[in-house]
Amino acid sequence: MSLLRVENVTKRFGGITANQDVSFQMGAGQIVGLIGPNGAGKTTMFNCIAGYAPPTSGDIWLNDKKISGYSPEQCARAGIGRTFQVARTFTSMTALENVMVGAFLINRHVATARKSAAELLDFVNLGQFKDKHAGSMTISEQRRLAVARALAVKPKLLLMDEVMAGLNPTEVKETVEVVLKIREQGISCLIVEHVLEGIMPIADAIVVLDYGKKIADGKPAEVSNDPKVIAAYLGDE
Ligand SMILES: Nc1ncnc2c1ncn2[C@@H]1O[C@H](COP(=O)(O)OP(=O)(O)OP(=O)(O)O)[C@@H](O)[C@H]1O
Ligand SMILES: [Mg+2]
Repeated sequence: MSLLRVENVTKRFGGITANQDVSFQMGAGQIVGLIGPNGAGKTTMFNCIAGYAPPTSGDIWLNDKKISGYSPEQCARAGIGRTFQVARTFTSMTALENVMVGAFLINRHVATARKSAAELLDFVNLGQFKDKHAGSMTISEQRRLAVARALAVKPKLLLMDEVMAGLNPTEVKETVEVVLKIREQGISCLIVEHVLEGIMPIADAIVVLDYGKKIADGKPAEVSNDPKVIAAYLGDE
């Protein structure tokens, strides 16, 4: 059985069709990349899956539960964690407090939230920055902080929106290692990324969107040799 099933999802904003009849599936334990040129509809798809912007039509299933139409909180409780392309870090709060905000989505108990937040900071290699203000951390550290916050809802499926953008090669490698560690915990990862050298080597499958439509879906090697995908990216240059 698939962990996530996106069925014929269309999302319109007035006259703009950001996602058009998109279907794809991913299995438990997989890392799947969702790629495509700017404006292809990747973040919109994340917003549909995580309850931030329900599809105009079509359905989304997590295991055997239909989650399209759920609120963000309901999606989080159903097992979906996410990061945001535009960082929603609370810069004047400490790293620990930022992760606790995520933990409070599923548990109101302060001591429990604090304990799980501290463990998650260790997990993303930010343990030493627990009491540091998030605003004074590097971009790379802030992205991993966002990952820790998304993990605080104890997701089955983690959506990461461009967590490698703007990172140097060492930082990309560090982030890739964290993604692999997340998968080792049994958490599936759906990753929107323009940094293809980060996602291609670790993905089980790649889904490609262009102008809101799915144009390819398959193993990284197949997809990167697909003439439709090459044309979409060259058109974007
Ligand atoms: N809330 C909104 N209202 C109106 N139009 C929107 C809204 N959100 C997204 N769009 C439009 O939908 C299309 C897809 O946008 P989306 O942000 O999903 O693309 P993307 O693939 O994430 O792009 P990028 O790689 O630049 O982040 C764009 O044309 C965008 O302007
Ligand atoms: Mg986006």
